[in-house]
Amino acid sequence: PTARERPARLPPQAVPGVFSAGLDITEMCGRSEERLAEFWRAVQELWILLYGSRLATVAAINGSSPAGGCLLALSCDYRIMADSRKYIIGLNETRLGIVAPFWFKDCLVNTVGHRAAERSLQLGILYSAQEALRIGLVDELVPEDKIQARAAEVMAEWLAVPDHARQLSKSSLRKHAVDHLLMHREADVQNFVCFVSRDAIQQSLQRYMEGLKQKKA
Ligand SMILES: *[C@@H]1O[C@H](CO)[C@@H](O)[C@H](O)[C@H]1NC(C)=O
Ligand SMILES: *[C@@H]1O[C@H](CO)[C@@H](O)[C@H](O)[C@H]1NC(C)=O
Repeated sequence: PTARERPARLPPQAVPGVFSAGLDITEMCGRSEERLAEFWRAVQELWILLYGSRLATVAAINGSSPAGGCLLALSCDYRIMADSRKYIIGLNETRLGIVAPFWFKDCLVNTVGHRAAERSLQLGILYSAQEALRIGLVDELVPEDKIQARAAEVMAEWLAVPDHARQLSKSSLRKHAVDHLLMHREADVQNFVCFVSRDAIQQSLQRYMEGLKQKKA
C-alpha cells in the first residue's frame, strides 16, 4: 500500500536515508486542542526520558535527521554520523516559521555551545555531516557500513566506567535542562497548542502535507 492508504497507527518503519524525520506532522494537522496537548505531552515525556536517561545512549545516525530527529540525536550521550554527502542534520524549525521550544534550545546549547546555537537556531541551519562535525553537533563521522560496529565500540567505552559515577555525572550536567522543562511543562503545552492551532500555521502545515502527498504519488 502507499503511505496514504496505510492505517495511521502502524509501527514506524525504517526509511532508507532517514535517521528520524522528526515529529509526526499528521498529529498537528486538524486536531482538537485536547489531542494536540496530549501529543505534546508525549513528545516532552520522550525527551525527558531520553535526555535524562541513566543509561548510556549512543546515536548511530545513518540518515538525515532534521528538526525533531535532530533533537533525538542531541539527547543521546554520543553521536556518530554516517559520512555521506546525502545526509543533513539540524534544528531547522525556524525556516518553517516555527520557534523551537526552549528545551530544544537548552539541549542544543548544552551540546554545541551558545554561539553555534545562536547561528544554528536563528538561521534554522541544516548541516552536512562534515559541518555538523565541525561545530560539535555530532562527535564523529564513519563510513556508513561501519556505523553499527563503531557504535558498539563507543558503547563499550561508556559502559566501562562505573555506572553510578557515570550516571551521577550525567544527571548533574543534564538536570538543570530537564528541571527547566519540568517546571514549565504545562505552559509549554499551552504554548504549543496555541501556536499550532493558529490558522496561518494550520494552513502552512496543510500545504506541507499536500506537498508530501504529491512527492509520494
Ligand atoms: C539504520 O540503522 C537502523 C538501526 O540499525 C536500521 O534499522 C536501518 O535499516 C538503517 N538504515 C539504513 C538506510 O541503513
Ligand atoms: C526541516 O528540513 C527537512 C529536510 O529538508 C524538511 O523536510 C522539514 O520540513 C523541515 N522541518 C521544519 C520543521 O522546518
